[in-house]
Amino acid sequence: MNRKVLLAGLVLALGAGYALTAFSQAKPEVLVKQRQSAMTLQLKYFLPLALMAQGKIPYDANVVTRNAAYLDTLTQMPWDGFAESTKGEKATKALPAVYTDTAKFKQAQDQLRTAVGGLVAASKSGNEGAVKTAVGDVNKACGNCHDNFRAQ
Ligand code: HEC
Repeated sequence: MNRKVLLAGLVLALGAGYALTAFSQAKPEVLVKQRQSAMTLQLKYFLPLALMAQGKIPYDANVVTRNAAYLDTLTQMPWDGFAESTKGEKATKALPAVYTDTAKFKQAQDQLRTAVGGLVAASKSGNEGAVKTAVGDVNKACGNCHDNFRAQ
């Protein structure tokens, strides 16, 4: 098939849900899905590091470096999806505190960003002990926010 036609079809297909809303206000259900997707990927790339830190799978410095770099980007992604417009959405586990205690929610994001910064630095140092400590800090940051801002 002609590539231009294919591309035009793709843009049209995505347009209703994504492309058009990028120019206006994204639909609340789309924002929820996107932020949950970012969280899901955070878990995907963090879990192996947590298992390594616990000695449940063999330590692999290459995977640590790669996943730390992925997490450095991924952990910037969910936050702009927690818009006020998503408050009443059914498919979310975000607690109301996300929208009322915004300073604390922001602080919990910063805690994660700082911990991931530490993980990136540790992964570059090649110091396995430092990596394991940093993985523990990231784990705490995930758990701290979930305890306060996510329904069980
Ligand atoms: C600043 C707060 C915060 C931090 C930090 C945080 N999360 Fe979350 N997470 C949430 C909230 C709120 C939800 C619920 C989102 C929703 O359902 O709309 C969530 C949901 C999730 C989900 C479920 C996604 C789904 O499809 O329902 C996973 C998995 C997850 N987080 C993993 C992580 C991991 C791993 C980390 C650490 C690397 C992390 N989160 C750090 C607030 C946070």
